[in-house]
Amino acid sequence: MEDQVRSLKNSFRADLKAVKDTKDIEQLKVKYLGRKGPVQDLMVSLRNVTPEERPRIGKVINALKDEIAHLCEQAALSFAQVEETKRLEKEKIDVTLPGKKGYLGRQHPIRIMLNEVIDTFIGMGFSVQYGPEIDSDWYNFEGLNYPSDHPARDMQDTFYVSEHFLLRSQTSNVQLRAMEGHNPPIRIIAPGTVFRNENISARSHVFFHQVEGMYIDEGVSFGDLFTTMEEFWSKLFKKSIEARFRPSYFPFVEPGMEVDLKCTACEGKGCRLCKQSGWLAVCGAGLIHPEVLKNGGIDPHKYSGYAWGLGIERLAMLRYGISDIRMFTENDMRLLAQF
Ligand code: DAH
Repeated sequence: MEDQVRSLKNSFRADLKAVKDTKDIEQLKVKYLGRKGPVQDLMVSLRNVTPEERPRIGKVINALKDEIAHLCEQAALSFAQVEETKRLEKEKIDVTLPGKKGYLGRQHPIRIMLNEVIDTFIGMGFSVQYGPEIDSDWYNFEGLNYPSDHPARDMQDTFYVSEHFLLRSQTSNVQLRAMEGHNPPIRIIAPGTVFRNENISARSHVFFHQVEGMYIDEGVSFGDLFTTMEEFWSKLFKKSIEARFRPSYFPFVEPGMEVDLKCTACEGKGCRLCKQSGWLAVCGAGLIHPEVLKNGGIDPHKYSGYAWGLGIERLAMLRYGISDIRMFTENDMRLLAQF
């Protein structure tokens, strides 16, 4: 029986040499010390040994068992170390390599411009009112003094969603709503998106942004409009900006005008942005037509008011020197990352 122990020990040693990783060791341990393994067989056959010999042989078998367990454990430990070192080597991070730079979220230039305009007017005592982007013909046209066959409707090619409803072509659709909801004095701005069925080009798009403004009180005059406008431009641009007022026609104001700002890209010398004219139209304005006040439930004999509609894209183009309105909707990071 001692011969058996010896040969078992030799075959274990040979097996141990062939082991490659911790998994192999686990298998080896099971093979020799498992319940169906040779060591257990030896234990069982101890029964056939004479009682005098049994304690000694028993000890020899136990010693073999301990030795196998010990060697397995040692081998497992050293393999674990090697495997750990290999793993760490593979996972090594070179902290000196240049990192990948992620983009931080940022505001769109139109949003920045809108917020600046809104903040400036809030600072001048206006409050903000929002209106619907899908609206009835009444609020966008009819109630603003555009009868159904009025040629001024052709000034704005409109997207209709049904016979009487449309995508608003101007933030002026908020004017009547503000009049209906409040008694004078009314001093509001209405920022938002507007839509027009136009050919897309460097200067016009099918949707853009406006900020409508309106002030109604007793004795509001053209002079109030001028001073408010001038104060607004100088606050917004943080310097005095040359503005030019031209008579113009809008059905809901009388008299009406357009405001041009001296092109900041070329300082008025003439460039692509201002079509070589040195000026950029940014705003329509005027004194609110008495018919419109009436439609809003306000007595035109007692009250008067002014209104304006500012184009935000134009302002942003002017401020940031962007010469093509399409750039705002192209999502080109080369532009957006500059803000
Ligand atoms: N709604 C006009 C447009 O989109 C702009 C405008 C002109 C608004 C005169 C006004 C105004 O409030 O008084 O072309």
